Amino acid sequence: MNRKGNVYVTRLLPRPVMEKLGEICDFEANTEPRPATREELLRGVRGRDAVLCLLNDRIDAAVLDAAGPQCRLFANYGVGYNNIDVSEAQKRGIWVTNTPDVLDDATADMAWALLFATARRVAEGDRLMRSGTFSWQPEFMLGADITGRTLGVVGAGRIGRNFALKSRGFGMKVLYSGRRPSPEFEVETGGRFAALDELLRDSDFVSLHVPLTPETHHLIGERELGLMKPSSILINTSRGPVVDEKALARALEARTIRGAGLDVFENEPNPEPGLKALDNVVMTPHIGSATVDTRTNMGFIVVRNIAAALEGREPPNLVRA
Ligand code: GLV
Repeated sequence: MNRKGNVYVTRLLPRPVMEKLGEICDFEANTEPRPATREELLRGVRGRDAVLCLLNDRIDAAVLDAAGPQCRLFANYGVGYNNIDVSEAQKRGIWVTNTPDVLDDATADMAWALLFATARRVAEGDRLMRSGTFSWQPEFMLGADITGRTLGVVGAGRIGRNFALKSRGFGMKVLYSGRRPSPEFEVETGGRFAALDELLRDSDFVSLHVPLTPETHHLIGERELGLMKPSSILINTSRGPVVDEKALARALEARTIRGAGLDVFENEPNPEPGLKALDNVVMTPHIGSATVDTRTNMGFIVVRNIAAALEGREPPNLVRA
């Protein structure tokens, strides 16, 4: 290729990734410490051969049109790609890719971090230590047992499986739900397939690992929360809109469930205001994949996809509508 491809980057990635990207193409990046604005995005994508975008960039028909007919690829830095209208991209012959596999461990670990933090009131204890003191007593800050309890895993994909597998060290019984039973999941984790309602009724911890699609939007709403035991805990590291956050805030306030650990929110970056006043919710700012190695490896996957597209080859991590 005598002409290097020309790529727009909506937000700077870790330095080793930017260096690698520079070896394979010319690029222009949004260097501001914030997402590209809609105007910057529409302007930035114009005339590019490929675009490297993030999960908080909304890539719809208008952005795809602004990019133009020469554009080959929108490479998403993230495994979830609900921010991109993939069928509109396909109509225009534009590839869309994501970053699977390399973030399974980090995201599953984060779900465990939230599960422990919520069950054993870690964030609440931390707040207490910073603001005052305590007197040790038998019924002070009692939490929930984890070892030997029942874990409900909603979504039997790579991250759900990874998360479930890690429960083996805690001797947990695993239930899982999904579109269909997964023999792979069962062999690896010892889990048993259950309908979502049964899983919600019987689990002590329910952790969500589904992609956001029209079918999973508000998969967990008032009815589903009502099926959970008053002693159970909900963990969400998938996408915020999988849960009806208003219904969740009501359930947490009324203590019809024990607690929730949330890394994702319906209207990021803002959680439902009612949640902030509650001690039985632990919230983190969408950092499921946020480890140094994982974020770097995600970047290398993006670069690999861009390199392929610029050479006219189908990129390895193509997703389809
Ligand atoms: C993070 O949320 C991702 O989809 O990679």
